[in-house]
Amino acid sequence: MNPAFAYREGRLHAEDVPVEDLAARFGTPCYVYSRGALEARYLAFVDAFAGHPVRVCYAVKANGNLAVLDVLAGHGAGFDIVSGGELARVLAAGGDPQRVVFSGACKLEDEIRAALAQDIACFNVESEPELYRLSELAVEAGREARIAIRVNPDVEAGGHRHISTGRREHKFGIALEDAGSLVVRAMTLPGLKLEGVACHIGSQMMALEPLAAALAQVADFARAVQADGVALRHVDAGGGLGIDHHGQVAPTPAQYAEVVLGALAGLGLDIVLEPGRAIAGPAGLLLTRVAYVKQGHGRKFALVDAAMNDLLRPALYEAWHDILPARAGAAPDAEPIDVVGPVCETGDFLGRDRELAVVPGDLLAVADGGAYGFVMSSNYNARPRACEVMVAGAEARVVRRRETTEELWRGEARFKEALP
Ligand code: LLP
Repeated sequence: MNPAFAYREGRLHAEDVPVEDLAARFGTPCYVYSRGALEARYLAFVDAFAGHPVRVCYAVKANGNLAVLDVLAGHGAGFDIVSGGELARVLAAGGDPQRVVFSGACKLEDEIRAALAQDIACFNVESEPELYRLSELAVEAGREARIAIRVNPDVEAGGHRHISTGRREHKFGIALEDAGSLVVRAMTLPGLKLEGVACHIGSQMMALEPLAAALAQVADFARAVQADGVALRHVDAGGGLGIDHHGQVAPTPAQYAEVVLGALAGLGLDIVLEPGRAIAGPAGLLLTRVAYVKQGHGRKFALVDAAMNDLLRPALYEAWHDILPARAGAAPDAEPIDVVGPVCETGDFLGRDRELAVVPGDLLAVADGGAYGFVMSSNYNARPRACEVMVAGAEARVVRRRETTEELWRGEARFKEALP
C-alpha cells in the first residue's frame, strides 16, 4: 500500500492522522484520501515522461470528487471525461476545459454541445455516426471541434473481462481497417479538425506487452495518416496502468513510460495519457467498523457497516482489496473470516477468507479505495452514501459530507402530489 497509509506505533495512519481519529470524528463508512499521495502519484507520471511533450489527462471517472480534481488541476493536470456531468465537475473544480479530452462510445448531443461551448482540447471519436453528429453540432455552434480517432487494436489487455476494452467485440473505438476511411471523412466534413489518434485497451493492466502491441499498431496507423498529408498533433495512449494488487506488483510509471515512448518514438507527436486508477486508487481507503462477528457453519463473518453499495468492486469483479486493522498487533487467534456488509445479497462482500482477528467495534481499512470506489457507490437498500475526507499532513477535512436519510428521496413525490 502507498506509504501515505502506514502503521506508526501500531496504529494505521492516513498521512499524520490515525485512522481511528478520523472514524471517531467523521463516522463510518468513510472514504479517506491522501492529498500527498494523489500529488505524488500524478507527479510520478509527469516525471516519468520528463523531457517529452506529454499531457496527463486524469480519468475523472476514477474519482471525480471536486477536492481530488482541484488537487490535480493545481499541478497542471488535464482531464479525460466521459460525460457532460464529468465536464461540469471539472469546471466546478476549477479545471481548465482546454485541457479536457472527451472519450466514450456514446456521447450525447447535449454533452457534445456543452463540450463545444467550452472549446475542449479534443473529442476522441469512436464511430462514424458520432463523427457526423459532431460535425453537425460543431457547425451549428460555429466551432471547430478538434478530434482524435480512437482505434480498436483488437488486443487483449488482461485483467477482468468487464474492464477490458480493446478487443474487436467490444463497443469501443474503430477497427483499424475502418479507421482509414474515417480519416478521409473527417478531412472532408465541416467543423472538424483531425489532430490525433487514440486508443485505450483496458484497465488494471499488470503487464505492458499488450499495450506495446496496441501502440505499435496505433503508431503504424498514425504514420499512414501523416503520409496522407494530415498534420497530426498527438497520440493518446489512454489509461489502464494497474496498481499493486493481491501480492502482484504493477509496472511503475517509469516502466510504463519506457514502453509508451518506445512504441511512439519517431512520430514527432505529443503524447496524451489518461490514467485514473494508477493516480487515485492507492491514494484512498475506505474505513468501516465491525458491527457483529458471526460464527456460521464452516464460515466466520465479520459484519461491517460498509457494503457493496459503498464499494462495488469485490461484488462486481471479485476484485481483491487488502483489508487492514486500524490497530496492528499480534493476532494469534486470526482465522479466515469473510468481511461482509449489511446489504441483502450474497454477493455483498468486501473480502473473503481474510486472516483477521476482529471483535465488534474494531475499525478496518479497505485499501486502494481511491479509484472506482465512491464514484460507483449507490443508495441500494436505502443506504445513504458515505462521506469523503481528505487528509493533508495532520489536517483532515470533509470533502463530501455523508448523505442524510432525507436526501434519499430528494426529488421523489407520491403520485397524488406529483407533477404531471
Ligand atoms: N480512458 C478511457 C477511455 C477509459 O475508458 C478508462 C477507464 C480510462 C482512461 C482510465 O483507466 P484507468 O487508468 O483507471 O485504468 N470500474 C472498473 C474500471 C473501469 C475502467 C473504465 N475505463 C474497476 O473498478 O476496476
